[in-house]
Amino acid sequence: MTGLYALFRSTVGLKWLMGVSGLVLSGFVVVHMLGNLQVYLGPDAINAYAESLRKMPVLLWTARIVLLVAFGLHVFSAVRITQLNRAARQHQYELWSPQVTTYAARTMFMGGIILFAFVLYHLAHFTFGLTHPEHFQLHDAKGRHDVYAMVVLGFRQPLVSLSYLVAMVPLLLHLQHGVSSFFQTFGLNHPRYNGIIRALGPIVGLIVFFGNCSIPLAVLAGLIPYPVVGK
Ligand code: HEM
Repeated sequence: MTGLYALFRSTVGLKWLMGVSGLVLSGFVVVHMLGNLQVYLGPDAINAYAESLRKMPVLLWTARIVLLVAFGLHVFSAVRITQLNRAARQHQYELWSPQVTTYAARTMFMGGIILFAFVLYHLAHFTFGLTHPEHFQLHDAKGRHDVYAMVVLGFRQPLVSLSYLVAMVPLLLHLQHGVSSFFQTFGLNHPRYNGIIRALGPIVGLIVFFGNCSIPLAVLAGLIPYPVVGK
């Protein structure tokens, strides 16, 4: 218990918490994007995928709880580290010298707040069906939740698509800095692989960025066929 308390109080412990929770969240974002890309395979594929997740409630709820805990720990550690850094900077103000840092690193906190707001909107849109209940209530010919129709009808609205496209920018920056920082936090480095480690964040970030942005853009361009709406 004392060890856990110490973990929550020290900057190193908080960075570990942030790293592990960030890894879980990044893993989810990549897997989620791969699931979403099934929209290109047509209504049957993505609706069957969504249905198969619902048919495994234990797995689904375990994943949801892990995700929620990771999210909570990530926000908590980010807030605590920022507070501790600010306090330390006030003490060492005379010694302070600007450090070489990237745009992605400097915008982590602000980007995190925008992502938080996006996730709340996104859950209201696709998980709770609060923003477009008329799309959320649809079912396909096999009686399954029509996720395909919900996604396509949602992204047909330019403002909805725009909000997703805008949110993908802080997500890109967050992954770009976060994924590479993970290795630094856990001291996972080797002169031979440091180039790959530095490139990994931008690579993962760009894959997720283009994968996710492609969906609203393809819908707006009419490249994803309009759904045959069931009931
Ligand atoms: C174009 C991009 C995206 C699309 C098309 C999309 C689509 C969806 C859909 C359709 C669902 C509901 C699934 C269902 O109930 O069967 C969902 C849930 C969710 N999405 Fe996304 N999503 C996108 C991006 C994101 C991003 C970037 C994040 C996180 C930063 C995210 C986080 C979530 C979460 C946390 C859920 C709830 C999962 C659950 O039910 O437990 N999504 N998304």
